[in-house]
Formats: sequence, structure tokens, C-alpha cells
Amino acid sequence: MATVNVIGAGLAGLSAALELARKGVACRLVSAQRSERAQSVLAEGGINAVLDLMGEHDTVEEHFVDTMRGGVWLADPNAVWGLVNDAPDIVRRLAALGVPFQREGGSMIQRNFGGQKKKRTAYAKSSTGKVLVSALVDAVRLEERRGLVQRMPHHELVDLAIVDGACVGAWVRDSFGGDVAFLDGPVILACGGMGGLFGELTTGTTTNTGDVAAIALTRGVELANLEFLQYHPTTIPIANKRLLVTEAARGEGGRLFTLRDGAPWYFMEEKYPELGNLMPRDVVSREEWAVMADPACDGHIYLDMRGLSRSIWRNRLSDLRDEIKHYLAIDPARKAIPVEPGIHYCMGGILVDEAHRANVRDLYAAGECACAYHGANRLGGNSLLGAIRGGMVAARSIGMTRGDTVQRGCSPAQEGVATTNWTTEHAMREALVGCMGIVRTGDGLSVGLANLEDLCVTPRVNLARAVVACALAREESRGAHQRADYPETLEEYRRTTVVRWENDGPSIEFRPLAEPHEGVPRS
Ligand code: FUM
Repeated sequence: MATVNVIGAGLAGLSAALELARKGVACRLVSAQRSERAQSVLAEGGINAVLDLMGEHDTVEEHFVDTMRGGVWLADPNAVWGLVNDAPDIVRRLAALGVPFQREGGSMIQRNFGGQKKKRTAYAKSSTGKVLVSALVDAVRLEERRGLVQRMPHHELVDLAIVDGACVGAWVRDSFGGDVAFLDGPVILACGGMGGLFGELTTGTTTNTGDVAAIALTRGVELANLEFLQYHPTTIPIANKRLLVTEAARGEGGRLFTLRDGAPWYFMEEKYPELGNLMPRDVVSREEWAVMADPACDGHIYLDMRGLSRSIWRNRLSDLRDEIKHYLAIDPARKAIPVEPGIHYCMGGILVDEAHRANVRDLYAAGECACAYHGANRLGGNSLLGAIRGGMVAARSIGMTRGDTVQRGCSPAQEGVATTNWTTEHAMREALVGCMGIVRTGDGLSVGLANLEDLCVTPRVNLARAVVACALAREESRGAHQRADYPETLEEYRRTTVVRWENDGPSIEFRPLAEPHEGVPRS
């Protein structure tokens, strides 16, 4: 069997490598950075699974409905059904690997997260991503010693080799030596999101600029739903990026307010009595945006965590408190902190089917770079789950029947793939940030697109053009895509936005969602 090339060594990549090893299949785990610096490490709040540890009679059907509703009915129902059903086993297996999930009185506990009424999120203080990555890295090291995984950190993808509609390998460059090598075999892309395209507005790793998705797009791979960009309601600007204040802060009782006519106004609680501060992120960010523009208010949002008990701070949120003290010199147990929405997650990405296959044979995608589970808005706690399950399913789906012959004439060296220089990068960010806010307009998007079209052509600029073209084409408001000029949610747009690169530009098609299989609830 051919060796599989897993591009990306965060949770999705690690999970794919482990699953391949379990099948006895060798892989190369190729990554621009070490796993310990992957974006997954920054995930704070937790991972969702119906374990029903809190005596609330939680069910996978409810997890399914919450995920579909949170995504405003745009996610693939079959993929989501698989996700919620696999979740309990995934979390149990992680616990068995030694992940120190939160316990009280000796038993594991779960917490509240946005868009869900039941306590369904397993966690480790506010460092869940970190402990998951560390457990999976240890497990992968064992497979490395058995010879099934070859880790290749500090190698970046240069190009995909796609021949006759199939992916036959990838070119990667050694970031230190500069040598380019061809790795033959099927490819699983697990390279994270594209928040870095937005520079300092992102809570994620600023080096995650979507370059791999950009290469894929230019090579004929279909991307989807790029207009759905999640703004997390509670972030803090720090040097060159945003610090995430985990949703768990609100899950544990934190409250958002603004000052209206000089007095605190807990606007989420007043407007949404049932879920209040724990409404899905698209709703909370939109409300914050409206409140910040309201002349009766002081233009700021604050997170009030003064009511949290000492034991919550000590046992569940101590690392968050330390971070806030470090960056803001404020003790959040004593004083409300200023927060604002920041870019956190891209629901769109490489379009995959429920087996995590892209439209090109022998090419798979998993984690934030893939579009599968989250529809128009992702629920907190579903990203770590989606990354781990995605890697696992992609690994299981690998057919590996292909030979490893590579046709000549498609090497990146011959084609001269352009890179994005700083000036282009800066202009691209300005164009994107200017038009892809929480609320967009057709005029703004058209200007943004025209500005991008004026820039020199690179895969990253192409990706930026595809993002804005998707947002311009969707003439409705749904989840994380809000159009001031099209405020309604329309049934005719309950379709996937599929984008391909054709004739030097993005070409958009709205494709019907997959029909639910037998046994999958109808939404
Ligand atoms: O707020 C958070 O802790 C983020 C979690 C997530 O995006 O899943």
C-alpha cells in the first residue's frame, strides 16, 4: 500500500496518522510547524459529546438538532449524524489515552457551551486543545517508533500533483534547507483554517493563511461556504492578534453588558431570556455589533465574571484568569473586562463528502480546512470534535489502490507558483477586512472584490477573491453571513455555495444539500 501523506499535524492530522497506523498503513505527517504550535493548541473551551454525565438526559438526537440549528440548517445532515454518534466514543478514547478531562469528586464533568441547553462539553480547564494535542502527539510518537509514522515538521506544501482527476502526491519544501521533495501517494489535507488572511483580527495562528486551500483551489479542488466566517463574541486585541476569552467564561456564568445611558445593560439576557449569553456565536456577535453602534450605549462591550465562585476560578478557569491578568492587568474576578468580536473560525473550506473525500480522487480533507459539519455557523466545542473525527474518517476512507507513477510536466518548479509579497498581503487584508465584517453589503463586497482583482495573482489572493465572491453571491442572511441589503433567510439559499477556479476567476454554484440517509433525522 502506498504511504499516505498527511499535510498538517494539528488534531486532524494527528488523528488521521493514528487511525492509519491502527490500520497498519504508513504515513508521512508533514507540517509547516510542529504539532505543539498548531492552531489546535489554542482551542480553549472543550469538546462536545453526549456522555450525559450531568444527569440531564442528554441525547445524540439533541446534539444533532443543536448542531444543525446552530449551522442554520446548512450542514451535511449525514456527516453531522456521524459526528454526534461517534463523539462519545471519541471522548472516551481520549480519556483512555490519558487526557486529563475535568473531574469533580472523582468523576468526569461537562460544562455549558453556546447554542446548547445541555451540559455537553468535556474540557480541561481552559486549555483543552493543548492537552488533546499533547496526548495525541505521545500516541503518534509510539507509532513513529513502530515505523508507521514519519513526522516531517518544518515542511510546507508547495503544490499538489493532480493527474487525470486524481491526486498522486504532493511537493513539499523544507523550510530550513529550501529543498523541494515529491511525496507520492494519496493526500489528506489537515492544515487548519484561514483566519490568518485577516491578520490581527484572528484568534488563531496568524500563519494559518489558507495557503494549502488556496493551492487546492487553483488546482481544481472545490471549496465551499467560504462566506461563513465566525466572529467569536469575546476576544481581546493583543499584539498582532486576538486573545480568545473562552465561551466557557459565559458557560460558567459570565455576563455580557454595555453601558447604556451610563448604566449596565445586560442586553443578551434581556433579548434572549432562554439562552441569554449562550446564544450561538453568530447571534451574540451580531447583537454586540448592533449595541456598539447604538448611540445610547458607550460603544463598548464588557464581560462581567465577578459573580463566578472561587472554586470555578480555581478549578475550571484558572488559566484564563492568568492570561487576562497577564495581558490586561485586570483581575476578571474583581472587574469586568472589555471584549469585542474577533475572527475565530471558517465554517467553509475544502468541500468533502461524508467520507471526507474531496472532488479529486485520492484527496481528502479534515479539520478546519474542510467543509463538512458546521453549516452557516459552528457551535463551540464542535471544532475539536470535528477535527478528530474528520482525521479518523479520512484515514478510514483511503482506498489506496493507485500506483505511484507520476506524470512529468506538472512540477511546481516548472509552473513557477507565485508567492504573496508583503505589499500584496497588506492590500489583500485591507480589502478583506473592509468588506467581510459581521454585517456586509453588496456594494462593499463589490468594492472589495474589485480591489482584490487589481492585485497580483497568487494562490492566496485567488482564495481571498473566492471568499468575497461567495459572500457576494449569497443574497440572503444566514448564520455568520449577514447582508444588510438582504436581511431575510431564504429557503432557496438553503444550499451549499460551491466555488471552483475557472477561467482565471471564481465560479460559484449553489448545490442542494445531501438527502439524509435512512435513520438520519430530517431537519
Ligand atoms: O470559546 C472557546 O473556547 C472556543 C471553542 C471553540 O471554538 O470550539
